[in-house]
Amino acid sequence: MNTIYGELVSSFNKNPRHEDFFYDFGERKRMQPIKILFVCLGNICRSPMAEYLMREKIKQAHLQDNIFTASAGTSGWHDGEGMHCGTADILDQHKIASNDFVSRKVRSKDWADFDYLIAMDNENLRDLEKLFGHHPEKLFQITALCPDLGIDHIPDPWFTKNFNQTYELLDACCDALLDKIKQEHRL
Ligand code: 4NP
Repeated sequence: MNTIYGELVSSFNKNPRHEDFFYDFGERKRMQPIKILFVCLGNICRSPMAEYLMREKIKQAHLQDNIFTASAGTSGWHDGEGMHCGTADILDQHKIASNDFVSRKVRSKDWADFDYLIAMDNENLRDLEKLFGHHPEKLFQITALCPDLGIDHIPDPWFTKNFNQTYELLDACCDALLDKIKQEHRL
């Protein structure tokens, strides 16, 4: 058995997850991108902000062929709309492109289509768990990755009007998320 193949088989035996079979044995790159779905209530403020901010971080890390981001809302109240102008403005202030966004509701096939479903607050998590069950390795709140921030949810600027606060928190949490994914997928 050659070394790389042996190492992969041994790692699969210790941790038998199907995604290990998506690696190209020579280059250790996934052939399918890792897919992240950010989820909030309306899918016009927080989750689109996370989607485009994370995409920018992925681009800066030259991982745009490996990691894909999208977002959705639990309510469907804004289906077909663009993002909130406060979210577009804050992304623009940080020179982050936010084109081609269309709000949509979470759908049942999202569970199969995405590797991570990431909630902005406890209510989003509860609604997602009602649909998909309790799977903390795949479905969790983004603030769980940043306990040092001392906050257990991403505040909703639809209510707070403070898009800057939401951006700063998501900025820290998306850094932590990128580190986690790089580590978990050996990128
Ligand atoms: P989001 O914020 O969940 O961060 O997109 C909201 C947007 C719209 C509403 C609530 C929250 N709404 O009640 O329409």
